Amino acid sequence: EEGLHPTHYPWPQNSPLSGFDHKSLRRGFKVYQEACASCHSLSRIAWRNLVGVTHTVDETKALAEQVEYDDGPDDKGEMFKRPGKLSDYLPSPFPNEQAARAGNGGALPPDLSLIVKARHGGCDYIFSILTGYVDPPVGVKLGDGLNFNLYFPGTGIAMPRILFDGLVEYEDGTPATTSQMAYDVTNFLNWAAEPCLEDSKRKGLKAVVGFAVLFGISIWLKRFKWIPLK
Ligand code: HEM
Repeated sequence: EEGLHPTHYPWPQNSPLSGFDHKSLRRGFKVYQEACASCHSLSRIAWRNLVGVTHTVDETKALAEQVEYDDGPDDKGEMFKRPGKLSDYLPSPFPNEQAARAGNGGALPPDLSLIVKARHGGCDYIFSILTGYVDPPVGVKLGDGLNFNLYFPGTGIAMPRILFDGLVEYEDGTPATTSQMAYDVTNFLNWAAEPCLEDSKRKGLKAVVGFAVLFGISIWLKRFKWIPLK
């Protein structure tokens, strides 16, 4: 009862010269917000992190403002509330683990900030989990509140199937199939876990090109500059 090994899929960010599919990241944020955020936090991401990645500054400010944040107690101990700012972190659905478990039949929906890095199989695994729900085979008994998923270790997962065709409406007109939403939200969660990936790749490329030039110069120096000495 290991769970199936996920198929390898061609994630654009995994190839050495390309970064994330940014249209997909924007759609993926929408999936996270509308389909996952009611159970899963994304506590390492602040609104400002989205700027220039999935949304413009103004769009991001508007998204943040839709959320109410605590602004400290007044002198009677009542919380002041204020709309969100770019510097705020994305809101968590539950105040603490106890509340999260109480809302999920005892299971804990993990924070998704680093989930792509934390799970063996990365994006392939997350995509597979989201699309891997089937009816349990005859004779397989699942514990209370568990759902049969081909890819989850043990095959009984407390998270129910979330994604169904047409669950969200994409503003760019992309049909929101189960597979498309799983692809988009997985890309988004990969970005959340590695927001500097593209920057690192650019730096790496510069380094490779730079060292190749230096190497070329050193060959040239050796062959031509040293001729009179030989
Ligand atoms: C677990 C992703 C929506 C409840 C997980 C895991 C991932 C995940 C990657 C970890 C699986 C593992 O441990 O290997 C997502 C995504 C969602 C989503 C991307 C949106 C598309 C939801 C919703 C709920 C939920 C809406 C609540 C109704 C849970 C619970 C677990 C879990 C309870 C723990 C499962 C267990 O340990 O058996 N989710 N989730 N998830 N999720 Fe979600």
